[in-house]
Amino acid sequence: MCGIFAYLNYRIPKTRRHILETLIKGLQRLEYRGYDSAGVAIDAPSKGAHENGKQICVVKQQGKVEVLAEKLRGMAEFDFNDEMLCHVGIAHTRWATHGVPNEVNSHPQRSDPENEFVVVHNGIVTNYKALKKLLEGKGFKFESETDTEVIPKMLKYLHQQPDAKDISFSTLVERVVKELEGAFAIVVKSVHFPGEVVATKRGSPLLIGVACSGELSTDIIPIRYCKSISEGDHSKVVPQNNPLGSLHPVDVECGVEYYFASDASAIVEHTRRVIFVEDDDVAAVSGGHLSLHRVCRGPGQDCRALQTLEMELQQIVKGSYNSYMQKEIFEQPDSVLNTMRGRLKFESNIVMLGGLKDHVKVIKRCRRLILIGCGTSYHAALATRQVLEELSELPVMVELASDFLDRHTPVFRDDVCFFISQSGETADTLMALHFCKENGALTVGVTNTVGSSISRVTECGIHINAGPEIGVASTKAYTSQVVALVMFALFMSEDRISMTQRRKEIFKGLEELPDQIRKVLQIDSDVKELAGEMYKQLSLLIMGRGYNYATCLEGALKIKEITYMHSEGILSGELKHGPLALIDDKMPVIMIIPRDGTYTKCHNALKQVTARRGLPVVLCEENDKETISLAFKALLLPSTVDCLQGILAVIPLQLLSLHIANLRNMDVDCPRNLAKSVTVE
Ligand code: F6R
Repeated sequence: MCGIFAYLNYRIPKTRRHILETLIKGLQRLEYRGYDSAGVAIDAPSKGAHENGKQICVVKQQGKVEVLAEKLRGMAEFDFNDEMLCHVGIAHTRWATHGVPNEVNSHPQRSDPENEFVVVHNGIVTNYKALKKLLEGKGFKFESETDTEVIPKMLKYLHQQPDAKDISFSTLVERVVKELEGAFAIVVKSVHFPGEVVATKRGSPLLIGVACSGELSTDIIPIRYCKSISEGDHSKVVPQNNPLGSLHPVDVECGVEYYFASDASAIVEHTRRVIFVEDDDVAAVSGGHLSLHRVCRGPGQDCRALQTLEMELQQIVKGSYNSYMQKEIFEQPDSVLNTMRGRLKFESNIVMLGGLKDHVKVIKRCRRLILIGCGTSYHAALATRQVLEELSELPVMVELASDFLDRHTPVFRDDVCFFISQSGETADTLMALHFCKENGALTVGVTNTVGSSISRVTECGIHINAGPEIGVASTKAYTSQVVALVMFALFMSEDRISMTQRRKEIFKGLEELPDQIRKVLQIDSDVKELAGEMYKQLSLLIMGRGYNYATCLEGALKIKEITYMHSEGILSGELKHGPLALIDDKMPVIMIIPRDGTYTKCHNALKQVTARRGLPVVLCEENDKETISLAFKALLLPSTVDCLQGILAVIPLQLLSLHIANLRNMDVDCPRNLAKSVTVE
């Protein structure tokens, strides 16, 4: 939800063209996080507007990042070849929350028409109304409808105070951040602190990439703590001196570049060496030195280590595919294999989940499992509830995070709560996690993003290892989440002799899964043909039951989110309780009919549909002649064990949504009104 990118070059001369290209490329990598407007702030050619001769130029534009890039290319006032030895550029791509997507509401937001302080922000400042009122009372004039604008204005206001004369940029930002409530990540630039940048976060992700032309002074940056002498008295925040608290090139002659971003995908092409900023860290670069500060000693470590990104550039580029979504659908044979890699021993039917090993006893003794997520991640929980109930012999609750919170659901110390999230940053899921922790439950993360908030806040977890997912519609993360949870079900039943046979079946199914997915992907042309028949329709119903109820919901979600066609996943058991009224020979219907325990009941539903002149397209197993003979059309799937059949069935639905969206000329990777990582409630 909004992408932040900033680039600082120190003692490495860069042209304005290079700086702008770096900022734009960074935004393009983050575009999946929001794409309704974008903007940059860089040093303008000096016009002597401020005492130090510096001026900041802000360029913003409604629409996608490419539209901004186009605008920048046409800026006649820029000398693109002008070289700068030390420079800070900040940039942003927005998913609108407060205020419509237009130029004024885009970021960077500014303190005043002279752009003394400019800020890019991800998240929401929940107390912005009170701060705005206060600042308006001090004579500040607001121009946007955003919550963000209070931040640069507050910076300017505090900077004008007599006691702020000699304070550092980071101390100034610390003072402002103390006033902010909500979840956010910000990066700040100012004419008063040329060549410096300050960034901080609470709740929203932020990391810093470091590229040095020589050796770096250290791999570990100690945190510099600042102690508040008197609570509430901002003028008396004093740093406890820690002269070693910074990272910089060893050789004074060496240059260094810093990249600040919401996500590693914007950094990896520049450097693999990164620092993950933690909540309430204030990261500042001044004179080429990066230092980290905190206002008070809270939870967390006293230092931050430089880490090496394992991501490959090739994972985040489209390659020969037309869209990230298409690439990610076709990656599924490999992504599910990566989820299983090193965790399953097929010869002995053993599962090893290293991320849970310190908590095995508590998990195995718990009284209830609660699986919590949003959207597709919730569907993954729903898809695996039955196998979890069966193999763990425990009650399993599956919860939408927002509803779980609205209900103040009772949670107990002997519950184990799972938080399923591709991004690991979804605000509702994160809040539910805090709630469960406060109530004493053991928390387990199932995420795809190393270092994400959910993976850090949970006590233990399973990383799904699906690789970066960039298309806004989740595809490969879903199938990997299902595999991860099925592996957890196997882990819960490893001591049960009575389940040996059942476990064997599931192990075999998992072993064969990558090849079977490959086979399903071969029906892409049949699915494309079906899309050709359906793309002009207004609505599409997808029906199934048992393990495949979740498949129906997930298929319908894919259709709505990228094709904008209405679609509904219906539990076939509910058909006669209402939805049957929709059926006639015009209503497009897809029915999922696997040969599992629900087969006879699925056939009842099929007959109810055909008896009302419905023309169902059926997703069934390739040797199921009976179902094929009753269907209007059939898409054929390889057979696997019941709890994995949904993985094979969801893939044609993912492909169908992709083809319908393409035929409707939609941007499949950037569907309207949506963004990949939903860091607001
Ligand atoms: C749908 C989709 C969303 C996400 C939901 C949760 O294709 O991507 O429904 O699944 O916003 O996101 P994560 O999994 O990142 O918590």
